Amino acid sequence: MRHDHVLTARQLSRGDVEEVLDRAAEIAADPSAVADRHAGALLGLCFFEPSTRTKMSFEAAIKRLGGDVVDMGSVESSSVKKGESLADTIRVIEGYADALVLRHPRQGAAKMASEFVDVPLLNAGDGAGHHPTQTLLDLFTIREAHGLDDLTIGIMGDLKYGRTVHSLAHALTTFDARQHFISPESLQLPRGVRYDLHEAGAQVREHTELEEVLPSLDVLYVTRIQRERFPDENEYRQVAGEYRIDSETLEAADDDLAVLHPLPRVDEIAPEIDDTEHANYFQQAHNGVPVRMALLDLLLEDADVGAIGGDAR
Ligand code: NCD
Repeated sequence: MRHDHVLTARQLSRGDVEEVLDRAAEIAADPSAVADRHAGALLGLCFFEPSTRTKMSFEAAIKRLGGDVVDMGSVESSSVKKGESLADTIRVIEGYADALVLRHPRQGAAKMASEFVDVPLLNAGDGAGHHPTQTLLDLFTIREAHGLDDLTIGIMGDLKYGRTVHSLAHALTTFDARQHFISPESLQLPRGVRYDLHEAGAQVREHTELEEVLPSLDVLYVTRIQRERFPDENEYRQVAGEYRIDSETLEAADDDLAVLHPLPRVDEIAPEIDDTEHANYFQQAHNGVPVRMALLDLLLEDADVGAIGGDAR
């Protein structure tokens, strides 16, 4: 990995992805081998939006590598409340940590923030933009369940605002994957993402009905309708609950179909699926720890860990 910052999935080559996934597999097989590898390293957590999995799995990952976190805490309890700019906040926290994880409601926030810091900055979600570290754990899970070659995947739900979708779709263009996008018309892929996928030569088809493609799928990646991104609550209500899968839906699926979801789910997957062989989403969430350990391990390998106070020129 030769990247200082991890901002989008598009910047990750197939080789980069494979390097992270291979290291994650090694770590998952023998976590004790890396228990002290980054003793003393501090990861700065800057979450301007709610998070459970991403934040806690980054924290677990750095601690399992022997390091620790410094956490900005909630926006309510930080100086952001006093009107501090994102650039200033990030520049200050850079001096307290060896790498930064940023989640922010504004699309492009991670890219902007990265221009102000020298330590590696990881985009943990920028509005409806990207979520590349989620993509790495999604790919890890897909690789374990099916492999990443000769893959037919359905990506369903909120393709417009779902940042995990945008990052996953980009990353899959470097593998031999046929991508089927299933959504209501109002939540189809943004034009920019669709354009980039075509430019990358991706094999892409769009549908409004899952039935059209379900029997051909190896993986079905279900997403939550991103309620918080809708400018108008009525628009949300029109599409809420439309794309829900239950045991009856999956009768038409291949026995080996792997169902993934970045979580949290609201009502997109009936709980009765949880106990079936199809359900991969809790394992997927658990994979966040070894995958983020692998990523941090690669990024911190050459970093000047423990440079107290940073260089605030
Ligand atoms: C996703 C996100 O924040 O984009 N959650 C996550 O990180 N696992 C998906 C979502 O919120 O629906």
